[in-house]
Amino acid sequence: MGCGTGYLTRILAPVAGPTGQVTGVDASPAMVEHARRRAPANCRYLVGVGQTLDLPDMSFDIVVSSLAVHHMPAGERGAAVREMFRVLRPGGRLLIAEFRPPTGRLANRLAGLLTGPAMRHDLRGLLGTAVPEAGFRVEDEGELKPMLFYVRAVRPAA
Ligand SMILES: C[S@@+](CC[C@H](N)C(=O)[O-])C[C@H]1O[C@@H](n2cnc3c(N)ncnc32)[C@H](O)[C@@H]1O
Repeated sequence: MGCGTGYLTRILAPVAGPTGQVTGVDASPAMVEHARRRAPANCRYLVGVGQTLDLPDMSFDIVVSSLAVHHMPAGERGAAVREMFRVLRPGGRLLIAEFRPPTGRLANRLAGLLTGPAMRHDLRGLLGTAVPEAGFRVEDEGELKPMLFYVRAVRPAA
């Protein structure tokens, strides 16, 4: 979700294997167009927003989102997590990786100036609440250097 140029989907394609399929969704038609030009055989790309995915219920084994949720309007991020839950099959797994902005005021301002205001917001609190509220069981969360954090969760089997 929020696949951008398709960088991560191209890494995931061999993991899914020849019988698996990777679907990248991004709000930007230009990003999707770029990703399609470099698509491995088992990757497909759709233009769409994470808050209202045009994908069937329980149709994926794994949902991955990196550095996309912070781009969404603050009030719609919970809806995006609920959509990730909806499209996962019971037992399916979720990985969200997000930017972890500097906590110092000056460094945080600088990060915002260099990368855009969206990058100043720390989503750990929001995802810490939105992921279990959507119905997920959180398996693991942590930090990755230099400036990432992640949440891994499972949609409990029915
Ligand atoms: C920083 S890029 C990350 C791309 C990719 N996930 C990666 O890690 O390389 C953020 C992407 O999120 C997409 N995006 C922003 N808002 C979105 C939304 N509401 N739904 C889906 N994608 C969105 C942008 O178009 C952009 O391609």
